[in-house]
This record gives sequence, C-alpha cells and structure tokens, in this order.
Amino acid sequence: MWVADKWKDYEVLDATGGEKLERWGDYILVRPDPQVIWDTGRRAPEWKQANGHYHRSSKGGGSWEMNGLPEEWSIAYQGEGGDLQFRLKPFAFKHTGVFPEQAVNWDWCAGRIQKWQEKNPDSEPFRVLNLFAYTGGATVSAALAGAHVTHVDASKGMVGWAKENALASDVPTERTRWLVDDCKKFVEREIRRGNSYEGIIMDPPSYGRGPKGEIWKIEECVFELITLAGKLLSEKAVFFLINSYTTGLQPAVLTYMLGEAIVAGRGGIVESDEIGLPVRKNGLVLPCGASGRWMNV
Ligand SMILES: C[S@@+](CC[C@H](N)C(=O)[O-])C[C@H]1O[C@@H](n2cnc3c(N)ncnc32)[C@H](O)[C@@H]1O
Repeated sequence: MWVADKWKDYEVLDATGGEKLERWGDYILVRPDPQVIWDTGRRAPEWKQANGHYHRSSKGGGSWEMNGLPEEWSIAYQGEGGDLQFRLKPFAFKHTGVFPEQAVNWDWCAGRIQKWQEKNPDSEPFRVLNLFAYTGGATVSAALAGAHVTHVDASKGMVGWAKENALASDVPTERTRWLVDDCKKFVEREIRRGNSYEGIIMDPPSYGRGPKGEIWKIEECVFELITLAGKLLSEKAVFFLINSYTTGLQPAVLTYMLGEAIVAGRGGIVESDEIGLPVRKNGLVLPCGASGRWMNV
C-alpha cells in the first residue's frame, strides 16, 4: 500500500466501529468511514474531545455536531513540491476540503516533475492537466514543483476554493489555469485543439455532474475518459495518474485500463496499489481507495 505518512498537521488518531477520529491541526473531528468495519473499542481519550462530529442520517447525507469548531481554519503540508496551505471547513457529505491520503500522489507527481525539469532545463514548462481537481491539492503541489497546471472541475465553488489555496501557498499565478467545465467535454475540446500535456491526473468521484448536468458514473464513464485523455499525452509525456475512492474498483482494474488505453499505444509501465493513512492508536493503515500510475520508462 502507498501510505501518506508525512503529514504533521493531520493524523488519524483511531478508527473503529464505523468511524475515524482525526486531528486536523488543532481540532479533533469524528467522521464515518465505510471501510472501518472492525471494532477495537474507543481507547483514545480524544473520542470525548471532538470539536466536530459528522452524523449520518438514515435518509442519506447527514449533519455536523459542533463543539468549538471554527467555521474555517487552515492546515499545511510540507510536500515534495513545497509547502501547501489548505483552507478547511466542515461541509456537505462529511467533507472538510482536502483528502489527506492524496499527499502520497501529490509527492509522486512532484518528484517526477522535478526530475524532468532537471533533465530538460531549457524546455517549456512541464504541463499538467488535473481533472476533477476539487480544492486543488494536486494542482498546488504540481505548480509549486514548477509545472504549468490546467485545473478543471465542474463546480465554480470548488474552483474558487482551489484558487484560494493556491494564493495561500504562494503559487505564481502564471503557473495555473482554472476552468469550470465538464471533464469529458474539456478533454474532447483539447483533442480538437491539438493541445498536449506531460502529466495527467484524474481523481473522479463515483458519481458526479458536470456544470450543465452531464452525468458522471465512474463504472460507465471512466475507461472512455482515460482513453480520450490518453490522446492528450505529449511526445515527452512522463505520467498519467488515476485515483479512485469507489469501493470495489480494485488496483488491478486501474492497471488493466491504463494498460489498454495507454501502454498498448505507447509503451511505458503501470503500477497500481491501494493508498492509505496510518492510524496512530492501533497501528493499522486505513485504506482510502486505489491509484493507478502510468509512467514512461
Ligand atoms: C472527490 S472530488 C475529487 C477529489 C480531488 N481530486 C482531490 O483529491 O482533491 C470530485 C470532484 O469532481 C467534480 N466533478 C464531478 N463530476 C464532474 C464532471 N462531470 N466534470 C468535472 N468535474 C466533476 C466535483 O465537483 C468534485 O470537486
């Protein structure tokens, strides 16, 4: 498993009985987690000191129980690319505005961008396309590593939030391009324009909607989008990363899709694995989905 174990401002303190206990900077949150089906008892004293507790409702969705949690606060991540700043707030569907497990992918991409720049000092900037880019963790990390990043997300609110994270992280403005758009439509347009990228990142939800209501269902749409986006890889392309939170979408499936859609046409290798977060109290690693990584060799 690829484990995001370099956080200082974030940690999973404990996980048991369907919930995880997390420290986000100075604040303690309790959130449900479908993977946590074991029950090792609530040993950590912090279970009683939670500042925010997200309760699922039987009607779907849920709500936050607040106990001294500010409306907004910030945390930082010292990554391969540089120091990333994140604005956080408790919002819909138990989200806070960042997926900490993604740090393991941010660092992997930043490492490849820096290596490429060392080898190609006189080249145009390394170009990254970040699809389903949310609050911009991967965008900020890649841009701080020196890349020029195109950030695409369907939600105007999320793109605004990502811009704030980039500003707070001192990302030079000329290194980012922000787009509110449907990912598939954007990729199809880029193919027609003949644009290309050295690195592509996609982190789709299980289910989502484009700005004009375009339906995204990962099982039905993801292979076609990987195949289309694969056409945007430049001659000098270095990586293609896909992440999935969708329960049941195994690493091997990501390997097969990247194999068919990219390796078959241009070689290179693919590695896929689960990603996870270390749990301080019980020493386990909390599984948080899977990632597939194509890289040219
Ligand atoms: C789970 S989040 C992705 C997490 C993110 N990559 C991260 O780690 O920070 C899914 C994002 O996909 C966006 N989205 C959903 N359907 C979309 C579509 N059809 N086109 C573009 N973005 C979409 C949502 O607005 C949301 O921001």
